[in-house]
Amino acid sequence: MSNRGHVLLVAGSRSARSGDLADALRHRGFDVSAPPSLADALREIDGGSADAVVIGPDVDHDRALHDCRQVSTRSEVPVILITADAGRETLDAATRAGAFSVLPASSDLSAVDLALDRAVEHSALRREVERLEQAIRDRPGFGALIGSSPPMQQLYDVLERAAQSDVSVLLTGESGTGKELAAREIHRHSRRADGPFVAVNLAAVPDGLLESELFGHARGAFTDARSARRGLFAEAHRGTLFLDEIGELSLPLQPKLLRALQERTVRPVGSDREIEVDVRIITATNRDLDAMVADGRFRQDLYYRLAVVQIETPPLRNRGADILTLAQHFLAAAAARSDRHLGISNAAARSLLRYRWPGNVRELENVIERAVALSHGDRIGLQDLPQRVRGITPEPRPDPRQPPLPPADDLVPMHVIEARYIRRVLDHTDGNKAQAARILGFDRKTLYRKIRLYGLSEE
Ligand SMILES: Nc1ncnc2c1ncn2[C@@H]1O[C@H](COP(=O)(O)OP(=O)(O)O)[C@@H](O)[C@H]1O
Ligand SMILES: [Mg+2]
Repeated sequence: MSNRGHVLLVAGSRSARSGDLADALRHRGFDVSAPPSLADALREIDGGSADAVVIGPDVDHDRALHDCRQVSTRSEVPVILITADAGRETLDAATRAGAFSVLPASSDLSAVDLALDRAVEHSALRREVERLEQAIRDRPGFGALIGSSPPMQQLYDVLERAAQSDVSVLLTGESGTGKELAAREIHRHSRRADGPFVAVNLAAVPDGLLESELFGHARGAFTDARSARRGLFAEAHRGTLFLDEIGELSLPLQPKLLRALQERTVRPVGSDREIEVDVRIITATNRDLDAMVADGRFRQDLYYRLAVVQIETPPLRNRGADILTLAQHFLAAAAARSDRHLGISNAAARSLLRYRWPGNVRELENVIERAVALSHGDRIGLQDLPQRVRGITPEPRPDPRQPPLPPADDLVPMHVIEARYIRRVLDHTDGNKAQAARILGFDRKTLYRKIRLYGLSEE
């Protein structure tokens, strides 16, 4: 019979411990242990292996119950009392003291069996809940943001503090570093969390439409305005408005945005009515707004207004092992969509860790999705990664007669340049070697030799 759970039988006398009940429960598929003393039983409970405890009628119930509950404060083990005195009062007292169930000594085996079944199930649920709680506590991230590297821990701290206040936040950082996710997490952790989060990418809205998009318009304000429109500020009332790519805001619109922020009102296009709005503004850009201010392309007063708090999302290449945590996350998501189980080979993991990720998390997400689509086995291998990510492995052995050049980004040995360039051409020809050889001015044999030498082959 299958194992129905580990039952601890606490009985006073040896005969009770080795007697009918223990045997009968074993026979019914429970794994029964019957320690010789209450102290031994408590040790076992403390070890966490017991799913349920049965206390026999010849034991001091009050004390046994009390002690069991003391040692199992963390995950309460259900305790079943079997009592010779089945009076109402005894039953009530035991239940109040925390017994999971109380059975008269005259109960037949199936009643004990049933109570144990429920107790074991209770324990299993309890463990599952604890496991999930632990998983949530250990989760390496902040809301939807994943990663536990020091730069990310710092980011979470700053986001948390920004969420406590209501000031304007400017998020800066390279493209794909999670600026929009960060904006959402600020909102979700703020007192506006129950209000709307409205996001708009200023680069995606044609300049002529942006004003009415943001502030709304009156009916008939312009040719196409057959009906009035509220605008995003009004939609974000009591919530957060996220203006992505704020660096793209045209000079004529900049003072209008500034005015809305200062006055906390907007005026729809074609209307002379001011509408009060209560909106928290978060903006993001991957451009250097400081430089734009210096060049006169961005108003300084607006910049100050937007960047009351400025938060930088760190590039992926500085996040160490987060790269693999994120890769696993995207892998699990993509694998689930295609109903597969996939891992990452060591060689592929090494490449992911070495690559510079100019497109950051967005690029990693794409690379993993592509790899899942390409891979045949149950592991993402080197061959499933794009050439640029694989890098040059192995590095060609340096010529012992030549001292190696110092490693500098723009100062590398010729063979590195050659290897990179060949890789670039191969990428361009989609791996077509005949075509690549023509472009490079090599004969086929030379190209094959160099591909082997630089480790550029698909395998
Ligand atoms: N720390 C992170 N954890 C999980 N996913 C992330 C993280 N950072 C970015 N992403 C994902 O990467 C993609 C790009 O993020 P996004 O916030 O749009 O970047 P940005 O606005 O900086 O260009 C999105 O799909 C986002 O869900
Ligand atoms: Mg973005």
